[in-house]
Amino acid sequence: MDVFASAAELLRHRRPERPVLALRPHTVLRAAKWFVANFPGPVLYAAKANDTPQVIDALVEAGITAFDVASLVEIDRVASVKDAELYFMNPVKSRGAIARAYQEFGVRRFAFDSADELDKVIEETGGAHDLTLFLRIACPNTHSLIPLEGKFGASQEEAPGLLLKARQRAIRLGITFHVGSQAVVPAAFGEALRQVGQLILSSGVLVDAIDIGGGFPSRYPHSDPPDLAAFMAEVMREADELAVKHSCELLCEPGRALVAEAESVIVRVDARRGNALYINDGAFGTLFDAAYSGFRFPAQLVTPSRGSPEPDTEFVLYGPTCDSSDFLPGPFVLPACVNEGDYLEIGQVGAYGRVLANRFNGFGVFDEVVLTDEPMLSMYDCAEDEATDARWPARA
Ligand SMILES: Cc1ncc(COP(=O)(O)O)c(C=O)c1O
Repeated sequence: MDVFASAAELLRHRRPERPVLALRPHTVLRAAKWFVANFPGPVLYAAKANDTPQVIDALVEAGITAFDVASLVEIDRVASVKDAELYFMNPVKSRGAIARAYQEFGVRRFAFDSADELDKVIEETGGAHDLTLFLRIACPNTHSLIPLEGKFGASQEEAPGLLLKARQRAIRLGITFHVGSQAVVPAAFGEALRQVGQLILSSGVLVDAIDIGGGFPSRYPHSDPPDLAAFMAEVMREADELAVKHSCELLCEPGRALVAEAESVIVRVDARRGNALYINDGAFGTLFDAAYSGFRFPAQLVTPSRGSPEPDTEFVLYGPTCDSSDFLPGPFVLPACVNEGDYLEIGQVGAYGRVLANRFNGFGVFDEVVLTDEPMLSMYDCAEDEATDARWPARA
């Protein structure tokens, strides 16, 4: 893949016809190192966020070789990582996927959130006695921009019975939850951990692992969360209250926080109508969250001939397809002079960008480059200074 110092440098050499996915692998390395140093237990990467090989390579280089996977395709993408540890954390899996994951890929860690799913896992692994089972519990979406509640998770009433049942089958037993993606308040994790603590007490079942899921935030123009250190402090504080704290492993499964800032998309403006810009990527490409989750991504004008006039005007964007829902309300703040033929860099699309892009209307094909400059926004400005080599329970 060609390497450039910045989007502007790329445009000094080329006028790309297709949108360009611009990867900054060094940001993945930095984010992953930060998590490894600051989370008090194994860090799994949620492969669904972005499973491009360069991202996986950077994670591995930083020491992350465990993956939360949701399908056989995701398993296949990461299975070649040396000593990969695979956690099949989709709470509803097909029988065929469970059987192949167990037999062909050696997966031994599975999530479930119902008695039916637990039975399925046990049946399709031939009544295996070497399983680590994670009960996914429902947890209210109190503090995240992309709720994950409703679809999955055992209720407070169901959970104790399910824990007991799984305890009898699992060599290791865990509880997991997901507080919702882009959780912007550290208390989201504290509240969920308190719920776990109550479940352990009310069920009387001891667990060996608590997987606190993903949800750690990144930075966007509309969402400026506290530093990740505040999230870690909250997790440590509440985890320290758990009855199982001396015998239990703590895990996390970040996706967004590791890769959001790792990619920009460089797009061309194909038309301007008032303050609406028609660009060559959109809701059916890497910008799904801008259309359907109310996300505002940072944007800047990068056409070299334009210099860099001050951004001062709010624009809405339309993607290239004929669907009128291919609309990104933003607003995106750009210089007033932007016009047809200009190129924009839209940042922070590394999580749930390329993986959601489809070929609707014949679009969704990208050129790819590597950029070596810094992302437009970052959660890791002082990453080196913040690393603390965390342990849990806290060392005396
Ligand atoms: C089970 C599970 N773990 C982890 C993640 C990653 O979440 P995030 O990208 O918000 O960190 C997701 C996202 O949907 C998920 O479903």
